[in-house]
Amino acid sequence: MMARRLFADAWGYAPAGTWSAPGRVNLIGEHTDYSGGLVLPFALADRAHIAVAPRDDQRIRLATPDDTVDLDLAALGPGSPPGWAAYLAGAAWALREAGHDVPGFDLALTSDVPVGAGLSSSAALMSATLLALDDLHALGLDRAALAALGRRAENVVAGVPCGAMDHSASLLCTRGHALLLDTDTGASRQVPLDPANDDLALLLLDTGHPHALQDGRYAERRAAIDAADAALTLATLTPGDIGSLPDAWTHDVRSAAAHVITENARVRASVDMLDRGDLAGIGMLLDDSHASLRDGLRVSSPELDAITDAARRAGALGARMTGAGFGGSAIALVALDRVTEVSAAARRAVPGARVRAVSPSAGASRDD
Ligand code: GLA
Repeated sequence: MMARRLFADAWGYAPAGTWSAPGRVNLIGEHTDYSGGLVLPFALADRAHIAVAPRDDQRIRLATPDDTVDLDLAALGPGSPPGWAAYLAGAAWALREAGHDVPGFDLALTSDVPVGAGLSSSAALMSATLLALDDLHALGLDRAALAALGRRAENVVAGVPCGAMDHSASLLCTRGHALLLDTDTGASRQVPLDPANDDLALLLLDTGHPHALQDGRYAERRAAIDAADAALTLATLTPGDIGSLPDAWTHDVRSAAAHVITENARVRASVDMLDRGDLAGIGMLLDDSHASLRDGLRVSSPELDAITDAARRAGALGARMTGAGFGGSAIALVALDRVTEVSAAARRAVPGARVRAVSPSAGASRDD
């Protein structure tokens, strides 16, 4: 059902407008976005759609096709509301906390971003809502500022210690480009990425084994990276520095640091290749990234390893897990004439996996 129609059914009047925001796939630059590193995500065509009308009181009413929630602005805060409502209502919390005195709103949500697949379905909700509230109240915030508020709301209201990538991708990505984001300075650049132009495809391999950021393993890996980063500012190091990391560090902290340092270098190398028009060249970097996430940071899963191995054996130029890991999705870079074989091999390797070609799509927008 369309968000506009759901809004009218749920709340009995017409919304002020509709907005949408995409999920994302990260091409490369994984677990680098909370230590000031580099990421290179692109937006999916899958989007969260919302219809919204402002209210003149403190209420927030949210409708999805399955559920409705009725909240008071005063009740928003750490851990409140629980569940999916945090990703919508949290937008108002973050704006108010930043000094923008927004009132309540009515909202209806429909989304086609798969949930639990590592594709930032939650950032899509938050980003669409932030853009809608910014528009409706003429706050004039730029998209980078909205992304920072989205991350803050996800950290505090939803209690997920995510980095800067997902909301930035949802709000800043553009069609036909990946977004190079420096999570230290916030600087970003659109990097042209059009696989079909080079007779290539980017396949999204959703293992169908959901990941959950709240289950503590993300926070645990993050703690190892935070510890290393606090001592040495990882984003300033290069692979040549790995041999001289402090001996006193535990094995976990050393290997987490080595992952981040090499991954930042792989993002730089990937962007250099893309700038030279050599998309095929990044295949090897995707493979190296996967190996580092699997063996160094230990955030892969048996299904992610199986599906990326199968893709490579069937002729993919490179494949890696994408997103937080522990389940969810991988991507593979594949010559157009190998897409059928690679897709079939991936489905055989992980029964129930969903495989499809994806291409860099537009970021968040006001739709009507
Ligand atoms: C999740 C987080 C992101 C990022 C990735 C790993 O998707 O939300 O901020 O840390 O994991 O790269």
